[in-house]
Amino acid sequence: MGIEIRPIQPEDIPSVVECIQLAFADDPYHQWAFDTRPGKFNKERNFASLKAKCEWGMRNALFYVATDADQPDGPVLGVSMWMRPRTADDKQTWAEWLDDYILWFKQGWNLVRFQGRGGLNTNRYWIWKREQAIAQAEIWTDPNGYYFCNIVTVRPGIQGKGIGRRLFEVVTARADEEGRKCYLESSKEEPNIAIYEKMGFRLARKMVCEDNGDICDLFCMVRDPQPLS
Ligand SMILES: CC(C)(COP(=O)(O)OP(=O)(O)OC[C@H]1O[C@@H](n2cnc3c(N)ncnc32)[C@H](O)[C@@H]1OP(=O)(O)O)[C@@H](O)C(=O)NCCC(=O)NCCS
Repeated sequence: MGIEIRPIQPEDIPSVVECIQLAFADDPYHQWAFDTRPGKFNKERNFASLKAKCEWGMRNALFYVATDADQPDGPVLGVSMWMRPRTADDKQTWAEWLDDYILWFKQGWNLVRFQGRGGLNTNRYWIWKREQAIAQAEIWTDPNGYYFCNIVTVRPGIQGKGIGRRLFEVVTARADEEGRKCYLESSKEEPNIAIYEKMGFRLARKMVCEDNGDICDLFCMVRDPQPLS
């Protein structure tokens, strides 16, 4: 299998969404934030929501897919979506503002089209957003900003074969050249913390999301720029 890492194309989106849904099915945050019981979780609704996020990400993020170069029509094997660093002086551009608005509109349309949120517990979503804002305000002290790994997944069955590392290196190499830090959050303690430590990240803080005694921990990790070899 010859793994190729390349920027996402519009035609990749269905396979990218499938890859994310498969890899996140057992993710602790997903299990906490969604009612995953049959009849409650609407996979099609979740697909539409992730598709809208991917369309936004194509224009606003560093968004890569891993594919098998020997199988040009094969599925996407892994995905990573990173937010660019924002320095202390960076302001949101009009184009970014418009894209945020378009995403908001698409998600609103999904709400109407599917008559609901497809199992997403919005209270828990906002608990997470609040805790995330607190954690990031505490950790993101570097005025040069952080490359923020927003999504990273490799298809189940082919994890542990080096694809995740390649999806990281495409951005960590750039961060090292620029002397910038990287950041991620994972709700899976094992094995992810060990995996990310291998890629140079260290645990910075635990984020605790709590709803009526139901807790979801997230692990905030930072990677310092590493000397160029
Ligand atoms: C987390 C994930 C993206 C990593 O990608 P991957 O392709 O499985 O990882 P790699 O094979 O590239 O391994 C990267 C490093 O971690 C190590 N590693 C892999 N699996 C490991 C495990 N289970 N325990 C400890 N170390 C492990 C590898 O040895 C490698 O280190 P090395 O290059 O120094 O040998 C992937 O496993 C995944 O999609 N998991 C499910 C979804 C998920 O949790 N996404 C992340 C949400 S934050």
